[in-house]
Order: sequence, then structure tokens, then C-alpha cells
Amino acid sequence: MPAYPIQEHKFDMLVVGAGGAGLRATFGLAQKGLKTACITKVFPTRSHTVAAQGGVAAALGNMGEDDWRYHFYDTVKGSDWLGDQDAIEYMCREAIPAIIELEHQGVPFSRTKDGRIYQRPFGGMTTKYGEGPAAQRTCAAADRTGHAILHTLYQQSLAHDAQFFVEFFALDLIMDSEGACRGVLALELETGQLHLFRAQGTVLATGGYGRAYFSATSAHTCTGDGNGMALRAGLGLQDMEFVQFHPTGIYGAGCLITEGVRGEGGILRNANGERFMERYAPSAKDLASRDVVSRSMTMEIREGRGVGEHKDHILLDLTHLGPEVIHEKLPGIAESARIFAGVDVEKEPIPVIPTVHYNMGGVPTNYHGEVVQLKDGNPDAVVPGLYAIGEAACVSVHGANRLGSNSLLDLVVFGRAVANRAAETIKPDAAQPDLPKDACDFSIARLDKLRNASGDTPTAVIRDRMQRAMQADAAVFRTQETLEEGVQRIREIHASFADVKVSDRSMIWNSDLVETLELDNLLGQALATIVCAENRTESRGAHARDDYPERDDTNWHKHSLCWVDADGNTRIDYRPVHMYTLTGEVDVVPPKKRVY
Ligand code: FUM
Repeated sequence: MPAYPIQEHKFDMLVVGAGGAGLRATFGLAQKGLKTACITKVFPTRSHTVAAQGGVAAALGNMGEDDWRYHFYDTVKGSDWLGDQDAIEYMCREAIPAIIELEHQGVPFSRTKDGRIYQRPFGGMTTKYGEGPAAQRTCAAADRTGHAILHTLYQQSLAHDAQFFVEFFALDLIMDSEGACRGVLALELETGQLHLFRAQGTVLATGGYGRAYFSATSAHTCTGDGNGMALRAGLGLQDMEFVQFHPTGIYGAGCLITEGVRGEGGILRNANGERFMERYAPSAKDLASRDVVSRSMTMEIREGRGVGEHKDHILLDLTHLGPEVIHEKLPGIAESARIFAGVDVEKEPIPVIPTVHYNMGGVPTNYHGEVVQLKDGNPDAVVPGLYAIGEAACVSVHGANRLGSNSLLDLVVFGRAVANRAAETIKPDAAQPDLPKDACDFSIARLDKLRNASGDTPTAVIRDRMQRAMQADAAVFRTQETLEEGVQRIREIHASFADVKVSDRSMIWNSDLVETLELDNLLGQALATIVCAENRTESRGAHARDDYPERDDTNWHKHSLCWVDADGNTRIDYRPVHMYTLTGEVDVVPPKKRVY
């Protein structure tokens, strides 16, 4: 084993990732008196949550009648009945105290005239169990809500004395022989020093893996490192076939234009200037759920009504909103449209296209944030010492399709849930069992192998092939043909990683090595996504197959689980969907046809 000295640290709780979920957990854990460390590969306020725009859902009822049960109903329907209804009840009920807490902690929400938190309509959010008017449920800080939340949570974490290890890249989970997680091995990017973080509990808050695709609203750092670590630890990932395309990424650049634009009255138009969503979703129109809007846009383009030289995109028109609404409610997207599309939104529409935005799948957990696996016939067996939250996790509250503004909500509700759970189950400063001497060897061997990789194919070439294959073959619409081809291509690309070439052998800020480690993480997730997509022979939520256009509850009302080993061998199994609620205060919503 090559010599890589390791510096050891011991904490009660370790959080990996400093986005909204990671920071909410970090400060909550520290607040509960647990010695907490947060390790993060980017400076906390650069985490991808900073890019979240439109807002965070909670049935506060500040701008019209609302009830958390309506939110529950909308979320179950939005999930196309793949969401676990106990977890959805937990999220929608806890949304209210969680957002009030955020307000008290200092998030500068926009305000109504009477000083309450401003709330805007978002897709799929209704009242009276879908029978009433659209709900104004999405709490907003103009169109920079993620930015506002992230800064507040970081300040709160510092105020509660959580310890940060910034620009530390987590390499692997350290699991013991009983299958419990004992911490993480991480690489300090500035010095090349390895650090072993031992903890009673480790929380994966590492975000999604949007960068498995060519065009995504996600930052380049969104490489799903926690999911990659989970796969290497032999854990299965859940519902990876469900990848959300946001209807309004800027054509070409991929940057997000918030759904809040349509919430404020923006309209999608085809080449004929037609408001085509009236045909696809007569009631909700432009505010149907994202899977429905993205598919409708794709249909318009396929049928020749796309705009531009190649008739390959759609227009988002907000010219009628007027400068006041744009300046007060949507200043950020006006700037993005100017910089990335060269458009003055007061005068011209923005060219947009459905763009990869969110991963519904991830590390399976219960609603406490504890990681669960299928073990000896028990589908809900808790993995001791391991938690997952945010986009890295699959609780599953979003099922087959997430509603806009339920993501920031998921981050704060389950970040908070993990802190509450740990406070009940973890004793501050309790003794931790010794680790065997070779506990980190497998991880160091992988690091050393990649650092010295002398194949013929640069990391960027393999990554580009993977991203293009995923974009083409695991798209908005999928067929048996594209999926079979995709499985074969991704298997070959995964195998080609054995021939990767890393040019920089140093240990100091070696971005060549870091990108290679990230690619290793992405490849396992890309493979899990495409094999599960090929396996699921139905259409549900964001997984739309031309050859199986209907939802098939008889055969497919179940979560997929997928394991991927280092050689790219995959195995699929299933977990049941939780069709029960936590209390008698809300009724289970039985599956029915999903129309907007
Ligand atoms: O459109 C948006 O502002 C994105 C929100 C979300 O993904 O929840």
C-alpha cells in the first residue's frame, strides 16, 4: 500500500456537503449539542442550492386559503403515486414550522403588503384536493430564494459552532464488518492530505448528479459524490430512472429560468405564437407539473412547431408582465436572460428548452433521513450510522416527478429531521469502536490507482461520451430502442474508464484527479439510471416511454433499487411504495388518472 499519511478526527456527527440540506442538518445538529463537522468540496455558499430561484413550498395560506393536506394531495399526485405517503405527510406538515423557523433565522423573504411571507403559484400546486383554484404556496425571496436560504443557514451553522472543513473532497464511506457506517475518508484539496473523519453518524448531503447529462441546470460540481460512495459501499440506489427535465432551461446555455416566471403569469408559446399548453393541460395550462410541460414542449417541437432556425426550441413570453413585476419579483432571470440569451425580457421572449434539472432517485431513506436497504426480506432495514438528505436521498417524497419548490422544502425539512433524529439516538461524545488498521486501504488504493492512471483516454473525453449518450438515450421521451442502445453505450463507456488517463500526478489542487474521481462517481449513477429506465416498461412521471405510454400500477407500482459494482455489473430489485400515512389527519390518496 502506498504511503499516504492520514490525519484522524472524531466527531459525534459528520455532514458531507454544505448545500441547503447539509447546512440545515449541520446547524441543527450543532444546536442539539452534538459535536458536528461539515466537509464540503466547495465553499458552503457556492453550493448548488445558491442557484435555486423560485421558492420553497409551504401551505402558510398567506395569500389565499391553503392547507398542508392540499399540499400533501398535490405532492402525491405530482409523484404519479410513486411517492411514499408517510414521508409526504411528514414533509407537507413539517413545511410550516420549518419555514417559520427559516424566517426567524433571518431568511429575507419577499413580503406581502401586510408584511407576511410572499407566496407565488407554482406548477401542480392546487387547493381543495385539486378541485379549487391554483394555490399560492411557494414562499419566495424574489427569484433568489436558494441564495437567501443558503447564506442564512451558513450563518446559523457558524453561530452554533459547527466545524467546517472547506474544499475537502469525500472519497469513500468507511463501513465496518457489520455494515454500519463509521465515517468518511476525505482528500484536502489544498494540501493533498488525507483525513479520516470518524463519527457516530454520517449524513450524505452531496446533491444530485445532473452532470451525468450534457445539458443541465446543475452546476458542474453536481456529480452525486455521495451516491457514488454509496454504490462503492455496496448499497443500492432507488428510483434512478426518474430524471426531471425543467421546462425552461435557456436554449443553448442550459441555465435555469425559474418556474416562478410562469407563476407570475409568463406564457409558453410555439412558432405560431400559440399558448399551446391550453391544449395539453386545459385547467393548469403553463402551471401543469414539470413532466407534463416538458413533454408538451417536446411534442410541439417534434410536430414542427418549434421556433428558431432549427425549429428546436420554445419561447417563454413575459413581455406582458410589465417592468414593475419583473424588477420586483424576477430580477435574477432578467439578468440571466440578458447575459445568456441576449434577450431584454421586457421586450422579447426567452428561448427555452426542457433541460435536466433534478434527480428524483438517490440513496433510499425513511422520513427520519436514515438510510434504508432491502435486507433479509425487510425493505426498510436501517443502515446503522448512515443518513442521506436532499437531492442525494430518495425518501421518497417526489416519487416519479417532483413538484417545483418541493426541493428547497425537502432540503430544510429533512435536514431538520436528521438533526431531530440524531438528538434522540446519539449520545454526545460517546465512545466509538476502533477501526481495523486496514479500514481505509480500499479507498487509498483507488485514489492511488486513479492518480497514476496512465491509459489513453483523458477524463474529459470519457465524460463527454457519457454526457452525450445520456442526453440522447435517457431523454424526455424514451423507447426500448434508445434505452437498449443507451445501456450498451453506457456499459462500454463505463468499461472504458479502465483506460482513463490522468496527466497530473501531484497532490496539491489536482483538479485532473478530482474530475476523475467525480467521473467515477457519475459513471455508476449513469449506469443505474439507464438500466433502471430500460427495465421499467411503463410511463410514470418523468419516465415517459413511447412504447409503453400508460402507467402500469399492476406491475410497476414499486420503487426500483439498483446496485452497481466496480466492474459495472448491475442488479435490480424492488421496494414497495408506502401507501399509508403517519396519522389519521389525512387520508391515503389512491392511484387514479393524472390530469391537470
Ligand atoms: O423553477 C424553479 O425556480 C426551480 C425550482 C425547483 O426546482 O424547485
